[in-house]
Amino acid sequence: MKCLAILKGDGIGPEVVDAALSLVPNLAEYFNISTVSEAGLEYYERTGQLLSDTSRQAIIRADYLLLGAYTTPPKRAEGCKSMIGYLRTEFDLGVNVRPFKSVDGISAKSFDLVLFRENTEDLYYQRQYMRDEQTAVGEKVITRNATERITVAAFNYARANQKRLITIVTKANVLTLVDGFFREVAEQTLAKLSIEYQYDVRVRHCIVDAAAYSLVKEPEKFEIILTSNLYGDILSDVLAGMMGSLGLCPSVNLGPTKTLFEPIHGSAPDIAGKGIANPTGAILSLANLLRYGNQLLLAESIERAVNATLSTGFRTPDLGGTCDSLAYTQEVKRRLIAP
Ligand code: NAI
Ligand code: MG
Repeated sequence: MKCLAILKGDGIGPEVVDAALSLVPNLAEYFNISTVSEAGLEYYERTGQLLSDTSRQAIIRADYLLLGAYTTPPKRAEGCKSMIGYLRTEFDLGVNVRPFKSVDGISAKSFDLVLFRENTEDLYYQRQYMRDEQTAVGEKVITRNATERITVAAFNYARANQKRLITIVTKANVLTLVDGFFREVAEQTLAKLSIEYQYDVRVRHCIVDAAAYSLVKEPEKFEIILTSNLYGDILSDVLAGMMGSLGLCPSVNLGPTKTLFEPIHGSAPDIAGKGIANPTGAILSLANLLRYGNQLLLAESIERAVNATLSTGFRTPDLGGTCDSLAYTQEVKRRLIAP
């Protein structure tokens, strides 16, 4: 049986993960489960460490990780990472896949697209330093390996799902060298894969600011977005806004030894502890985990129950509704048991 480590995190992390887990009380029949609790902001403030050795070992043993969200330690210091940043770099979780499918009656427009975000480089994990007292410098790094890896993932997804349009997003008009390199490697890789697999894709390039504009104006004109870390981060939130809420969106991070499932939102300290967080992103992440664990029917039932609940008007306050997290989750559960 595959090993699953559950990392609830802090802020609304435990609230949304617990809501999701309540839908599948027999999860231990499908996975060998451990819970990672010695991590997070409170643990960091107490010990100065992101996580304990015991927690690290539980993560190392796991095939799958289900994560809520972790508050990034506020300290501005060299080497001080967020928990999610640590996991992505430590376990080489370079491929972040984020589906955005509009929900009728909730989303601003109708669209169905998937964003592929490189997860382990760009400006996020490189050197930052003060050149002098008046000048802060951050280095942006794009490598061939990581760019090829995210491009292969996007192409494989296109091929498996009969999608043809891949939009590469960069700022290559200004960052001609680094972003020009991402664009060039992505284009070359796609051309090579198209020939190798006899599968034609239409490759389009879009500058990131224009992409943000187009995604708001005409999101239906996108199928697959292929981009680097920072732009993927920002465009994800643009798309979450188009969806209706950050709380709706699941994601998966793929690496060589582990797969991490998580909602795309953070720990939302502004609403933590109020019981009103939207658990949909966490619920759909759990459904995807079940799919990876070969529990396809259960995964699909959960997704159907979520859609039915949202479309009949049971909604949390982020969507303008009056349900708290519990009432919403109970409504999903009711539909799961008796669809
Ligand atoms: P955030 O995603 O936590 O919140 C942004 C806004 O969206 C807030 O107004 C929040 O209330 C709302 N929101 C987010 N999720 C929601 C949900 N499920 N239901 C209803 N409303 C929701 O982003 P923010 O405030 O920038 O980050 C808070 C902390 O989380 C920071 O320390 C950040 O570094 C961390 N973070 C952690 C992530 C992770 O562990 N995967 C990812 C993103 C941020
Ligand atoms: Mg983000």
